[in-house]
Amino acid sequence: MTREELYAAARGMLDRAYVPYSHFPVGAALECEDGAVYTGCNVENAAYSPGCCAERTAVVKAVSEGHRRFRRIAITADSDRFCAPCGVCRQVLQEFAPNLEVLLVNRKGEVKELTLPQLLPYSFGSDDLTGREE
Ligand code: THU
Repeated sequence: MTREELYAAARGMLDRAYVPYSHFPVGAALECEDGAVYTGCNVENAAYSPGCCAERTAVVKAVSEGHRRFRRIAITADSDRFCAPCGVCRQVLQEFAPNLEVLLVNRKGEVKELTLPQLLPYSFGSDDLTGREE
């Protein structure tokens, strides 16, 4: 999938977002190392905290279908600002793809290219539990 197709896949999820509380739809498209793409949107809840971000929706869809290796993720919101993943999503992404490419796309189609290490430096991961050297 081209970058433009990945952005379009993320944008296409804005209509699926369930956001009766924030009215802030977010779409994500996660590309696996084998080229498969899993999309996600945010899904909110009346009790607020059970709500799930678009990025985590995409990760859970991918992992539950047998994919654990990811190349890049595109994230978009209906805003002129770039929508960066929240702290919880950064940690969830680092579990499977510590060097993930993170592509933020705003409403105007502008793109900010980042990496997960930039967004989550000195992260905690599975190696910290095992004591394995980097
Ligand atoms: N949200 C996401 O889905 N992804 C982000 O990167 C930031 C925030 C959601 C959570 C909530 O449903 C709404 O946006 C407002 O915070």
